[in-house]
Amino acid sequence: MSDFTLTTAHEASANHQMVSLDEVQAQQIQLIRNFSHELRTPLTLVYGYMQSIHRRNENLTDLQKNALEIAMFEMKHTIQLLQESLDLARLECHAICLRREPVPLHGLISEAIAVFQQVKPREIIVESEELNILVLADADRLKQVLLRLIDNAVKYSDTAITIKLGKSGDCVAISICDRGCGIDFQDQLNIFSPFYRVDRSRNRDTGGAGLGLAIAKVLVEGMGGTLNVYSQLGEGSIFKIILKSLVSIA
Ligand SMILES: Nc1ncnc2c1ncn2[C@@H]1O[C@H](COP(=O)(O)OP(=O)(O)O)[C@@H](O)[C@H]1O
Ligand SMILES: [Mg+2]
Repeated sequence: MSDFTLTTAHEASANHQMVSLDEVQAQQIQLIRNFSHELRTPLTLVYGYMQSIHRRNENLTDLQKNALEIAMFEMKHTIQLLQESLDLARLECHAICLRREPVPLHGLISEAIAVFQQVKPREIIVESEELNILVLADADRLKQVLLRLIDNAVKYSDTAITIKLGKSGDCVAISICDRGCGIDFQDQLNIFSPFYRVDRSRNRDTGGAGLGLAIAKVLVEGMGGTLNVYSQLGEGSIFKIILKSLVSIA
């Protein structure tokens, strides 16, 4: 057998393995999609009944009320986990189509801040050298990314959050900066992986599934941009989104 035949046989085998790996991955993503979808629907219904019993608060002893609150907390997190798994699986198999259209950035950021502050009041300062920046993005999805990053900044710090906007050439940088606990270098390498959390324990304040950053990164990359972290333990963190921008509105 010639070297040529050997090489092609190896290549064929490697290609075959790659195809099977892709297929396995696609099947796994499909499984997660179906599983999350099937569970989310009935659990949302159960959660609704729990909320209504809790709201009416009739004939409940303190012990029962406390048990109901714990059950509701766990249920809410399970539904959020299923929703996020579903989002990530949909994004990974490109079932969500991301737009790339001109979006007025300042307006979008004001909307995201207003939505966030209705739920959790915290001072959020916007610093921008230029006004009226137009970013090439999917407005709804970019707002979701901002909300996730603001949520993290608020969860992992106690003081005001700053959102800095900077334009360089045909790119715009959106930096969400906090002066919180910061992230160790080793953890910075992992925080964008699904289910990775620096503090594995889940509590009422910071308990998430560890999917937020993974989803944010896939969304930003889907819009043709990048998302990176710059952080120092004990000093704070900066999450920086870079996207293409267009000539500013006059
Ligand atoms: N601004 C931040 N400051 C400190 N740690 C952060 C910050 N943002 C994210 N992290 C760390 O990255 C992990 C992953 O974040 P994320 O994917 O949003 O998951 P979640 O918020 O559900 O825990 C968090 O659990 C936290 O440990
Ligand atoms: Mg988060």
